[in-house]
Amino acid sequence: MKIICTKDYEDLSRKAAELIAEQILLKPDSVLGLATGGTPLGIYRCLTQLYRNDQIDFSSVTTLNLDEYVGMAPDNPGSYAYFMEQNLFSHVNISPERCHIPSGLAKSADAECRRYDQLISVLGGIDLQLLGLGNNGHIGFNEPSDTFTAATHCVALSESTRSANARFFSSLEEVPTQAITMGMNGIMNAKQILLCVSETSKSEILREVLFGPVTPSVPGSVLQYHPNLTVIADADACSCLPSEYRY
Ligand code: GLP
Repeated sequence: MKIICTKDYEDLSRKAAELIAEQILLKPDSVLGLATGGTPLGIYRCLTQLYRNDQIDFSSVTTLNLDEYVGMAPDNPGSYAYFMEQNLFSHVNISPERCHIPSGLAKSADAECRRYDQLISVLGGIDLQLLGLGNNGHIGFNEPSDTFTAATHCVALSESTRSANARFFSSLEEVPTQAITMGMNGIMNAKQILLCVSETSKSEILREVLFGPVTPSVPGSVLQYHPNLTVIADADACSCLPSEYRY
């Protein structure tokens, strides 16, 4: 595990975008696992800037997003499909047919989960997976539980996750109660993982994830077993880590 502690959120965003750009330069047809939430916004802005400066080319890149809310159409501003379109896809030269997100509208969520796992496998797995971290240690929407779930699955969102994500909706009631999320297999089989964490509110959970026991009650702790994990966290998020990792 490599931990990079940055001065601030801007620095975190720039460093993460540089690592993603490096991956695309080394392998133009990379399969990128992408994340949503507030943390990747700066990274997507930096990637857009690198594209505008002719420093990266997305034309052969394929993307697989981690998750989607059940019941949300891609044109619903609360959906992750909409988020990705607004914050990255519409700004770079990526082919829409290479951008994959679980469908929130599938008639059978189970069939959609199986389809998504098959897709990950047909695409040869993920070269680089970008992750954020939920307040309760979730990655994707793998919520705290008694067991780790390997496959893509449908999950009931915890009240703390719904409250944290309510800022993207006009009220808490509008936040969906269920989501489809890539499971731990899809995530952990990625060749490289980039975990990005910002803000003091994540500092304690980040310490648990990286240095606490590996347990499904802190889903992100499984990342300790990944052979190629890079953590990029700003000084605020690093404030509870052992002193050698603080800014
Ligand atoms: C959502 C997403 C996660 C993300 C988390 C943290 O729940 N499903 O993939 O990591 O939010 O988001 P933020 O970066 O806004 O704190």
